[in-house]
Amino acid sequence: ACGSEEGDGGAAAGELDLVADGTLTVCSDVPYPPFEDFDESSPSGFTGFDIDIVQAVADGLDLELAVKDSSFDGLQSGLALNAGECDLAASAMTITEERQANLAFSDGYYDSKQSLLVPVGSDVASIADLEGKRVGVQQGTTGEAYTNENASGAEVISFPSDAEMYQAIQAGQVDALLQDLPVNLVHTAGGDFEIVEEFSTEETYGLAMKKDNAALVEAVNGQLSELRDSGAYDDLYEKYFSE
Ligand code: ARG
Repeated sequence: ACGSEEGDGGAAAGELDLVADGTLTVCSDVPYPPFEDFDESSPSGFTGFDIDIVQAVADGLDLELAVKDSSFDGLQSGLALNAGECDLAASAMTITEERQANLAFSDGYYDSKQSLLVPVGSDVASIADLEGKRVGVQQGTTGEAYTNENASGAEVISFPSDAEMYQAIQAGQVDALLQDLPVNLVHTAGGDFEIVEEFSTEETYGLAMKKDNAALVEAVNGQLSELRDSGAYDDLYEKYFSE
């Protein structure tokens, strides 16, 4: 940035290379509660931990927030971002080495693990019991990879979205779902499903951006650390994850 002074929050919004001027355009695979969900009463049309985080990031950078619902596989592969569909993906996306080949990640903002969800009363009590059973996973996710590596003898069925996985288990088309723990926990709320095993996969979610947009990564990291310092991050965490 030709001799201009940078403020403490990293690059100023005016210097950022964005898909639409003055707007932080965010792609997210919705619904994936508690991280992303539809909400007509919210200004962006969406709600969730990720959405509140990117709203705060946009506010801090003096940008409008626009959220686009997109398929997770296109986000994690880098296709959507590299095609210029959005500036950033906020989609409960685990930072992995493989993804880092195509994408840049912000600092981590949430630690997660995997889990196995079954109908209450199922004879599946652990991943070892999946032999000969059908297990639903989401396409392109770390849960899909974990299942392919660890559920030997299971029929692994990949769905484009978590909503479709959940419909399949409700319809009895799969015997179990392997998905991020906080999301499977939401599926236990109705009392028909339970989590029988958790897997400490030590995953950390990051906001994904184009590899060549270092200025945006820096600006986003600046905002994330301000959220941590101000206590706003803790308030959001409490809002979505307090038991
Ligand atoms: N954390 C997992 C991953 O990165 C699953 C994320 C799925 N996110 C979503 N919004 N559907 O692969």
